[in-house]
Amino acid sequence: MSERIFIGVAWPYADGPLHLGHIAGAYLPADIFARYHRARGNQVLMVSGSDQHGTPITIKAEQAGKTPAEIATRYHQQFLESWQKLGISFDLFTATGTENHAQVTQDIFLTLLNKGYIYRNTVSQPFCPQCKRFLADRYVEGTCPYCRAAGARGDQCDACGKPLNAAELIDYQCRLCGTTPQFQDSEHFFLKLSAFEDQLLAWVKDKNYWRQNVLNFTRRYLEEGLRDRAITRDIDWGIPIPVKGFEKKRIYVWFEAVIGYLSASKEWAKSSGDEDGWRKFWQEEVKSYYFIGKDNIPFHTIIWPAMLMGYDDKLNLPYDVPANEFLTIEGSKLSTSRNWAVWVPDYLSRYDPDPLRYLLSINMPETGDADFSWREFIRRNNDELVATYGNLVNRVLTFVYRNFDGCVPAYDEIDGRGNELINMADSVFNTIFADNGLLYNCNFKQALKMAMTVAQETNRYLDEKSPWKIIKEDKQAAADSLYVALGIISRLKTMLYPFLPFSSQKVHEYLGFEGKVEDYAQKKALKPLPEPGQRLQKPQPLFSKLDEALVEEETVRLGSAGN
Ligand code: MF3
Ligand code: ZN
Repeated sequence: MSERIFIGVAWPYADGPLHLGHIAGAYLPADIFARYHRARGNQVLMVSGSDQHGTPITIKAEQAGKTPAEIATRYHQQFLESWQKLGISFDLFTATGTENHAQVTQDIFLTLLNKGYIYRNTVSQPFCPQCKRFLADRYVEGTCPYCRAAGARGDQCDACGKPLNAAELIDYQCRLCGTTPQFQDSEHFFLKLSAFEDQLLAWVKDKNYWRQNVLNFTRRYLEEGLRDRAITRDIDWGIPIPVKGFEKKRIYVWFEAVIGYLSASKEWAKSSGDEDGWRKFWQEEVKSYYFIGKDNIPFHTIIWPAMLMGYDDKLNLPYDVPANEFLTIEGSKLSTSRNWAVWVPDYLSRYDPDPLRYLLSINMPETGDADFSWREFIRRNNDELVATYGNLVNRVLTFVYRNFDGCVPAYDEIDGRGNELINMADSVFNTIFADNGLLYNCNFKQALKMAMTVAQETNRYLDEKSPWKIIKEDKQAAADSLYVALGIISRLKTMLYPFLPFSSQKVHEYLGFEGKVEDYAQKKALKPLPEPGQRLQKPQPLFSKLDEALVEEETVRLGSAGN
C-alpha cells in the first residue's frame, strides 16, 4: 500500500553559499529519504526554499553596496544550481520572498491574532547608539542567563541551545562594534507559546521513536516552561505586519520561515495545476518529516507545532524531526567567517557529486558530530567507490559485454556458493529497504555500510570463481558466476540509489534497463534482475581515482582568504 510522506527541509539563509555542514546536516539525508520513498512507490512531497529575510542579509547587502533583494536572489539562484548538480531532488525549492509566502504568513498571523494566540506588548529593544540602528537579537552578545556560557547571542545560546531574547543576556554588547546598546521602548507582537505547553507535552508523549537528542532536548525544554516570544522586529526588510500602525516593523524571520513548509506546499499545488493538492499532504494520512541541523530543533519541535495547533488543528504536526549533529572540518569547528568550510559550489567545480554524497552518508553526523577531512574523502573514493564498488561493476560488465555478445548470459546452474551470496544480498536488501527497515527509520549511515558489504562479498566471490580464467575451458561455468554477479550488481544499484543516484542510473543503463532507476524499481517490486539475453550497454568506469596530492592542495584552501 502506498504511503504519503511530507519532507520539509530547513530553509537556508540566502546570505552566503552552502557548505558541507548544510549538506550533511539536512539536505543529503532528506534527499536519501525522498529517493528511498519514491523508489518504493510512495507519494513524496519534499519542499524547502531560501530564507531571504532577516538582519544578516541587510548587513551583507550594505557591505556589498547592493539591496537585500539582490543578495537574496543571487544566492537563491546559486542554491538551485547546487541542488541540481548535487542531485537534491526537491519537488519545490522556493523562497520566503514570494507573494504567496507573504500571504500565507499574514493569514496565519491574523488568525492567531484573532484567536488570542498573538498579543501586543511594549518591549525595550536594543538600539546601538554607535551603529544608529536597532540590533537584531543575534547582533547582541553576552552571557547566557541559563547556562552562563560567554558569547551567547541574543537569539540563541550555542552552548545550551536555548532560544533567547537579547534583553535576557547578561553583560550584553553590540556584536558589530562592541558598544553597549541602549534599550528603547517599542511595541511588538508576541506569540503566546505558554498557552500550548500542555498540548505540546501531550503531543510529544508518544514520540519515543525520535532520536535521543531531539527527544531529550524537546522534553527538557518543555519541562522548564515555555515563554512567550516576540514575533515582530524593528527592521524594514521582511514581511509586513498586516495591522495598522506597524508599517515600520516586520514579522520576525523565524516566525515566517517555518511557515514556508505550508506556503511552499500550497505553491507546489498551484503550479502542479491542482490548487487543493497541498491538502493531501497536510490534512490526510501522512507522515511529516523535518530534516534540520540540531541548532534548529526547538523551532521544529516546539514553535512550529504550537503555531500549527493554534492556527488550524486539522493540519498535520511533525511525525519525526531527525535532526543531525554538526560536521567538523579537518577536526575543527566549521566557521564561515574564518573560511573554515568547504563550499558546495567550489566542491562541485572540481569533483563529481556521488563521491561527496558517499562520504557524507557513510560518515553522517546522525547521533554525534562527524568530521570531514580531504584525506578521508580521497581514501574512501579510491578504496571504496573505485576499488570496491566501481571495480565490481566495471570488471563484470566489461567482461560480459566483450565475451557474451553484449548480452546477459544464460545460466545453467547456480551453485551453493552463488545461492548463498544471493540470499545474503537479498537479506541485506530487505534490512535496508523494507518497511521499518534502516532507510525507513532514517538510519542512513548504517544502511550504506551494509550495502557496501554486499559489494565486498561479491568481489570475493568473483575472486574465487575467476570467470576471467575459466572462460576458456568452461564458458558455461563462467557464465553462471557472471550471471550471479550481474544479479547482485542490479540489486546494488537499487540499494545504493538513494545515496548515489547518478552512478545508479548509469549502472541501470549499462545493465540494459530503460527509464529511471527509481520508476523501474517501484514498477518491478524494487529489484528488477537482468534477464538472460537482455542487451547491455557499453560500460564506462563509474568513478575515477583521485590523486593523493589533492589532500595538500585542498587543505591549503581551508581558512585562507578569498571566497
Ligand atoms: N535559515 C535557518 C537556518 O539556516 C533555518 C530555517 S529552517 C525553517 O538556521 F524552515 F524553519 F525556516
Ligand atoms: Zn554597534
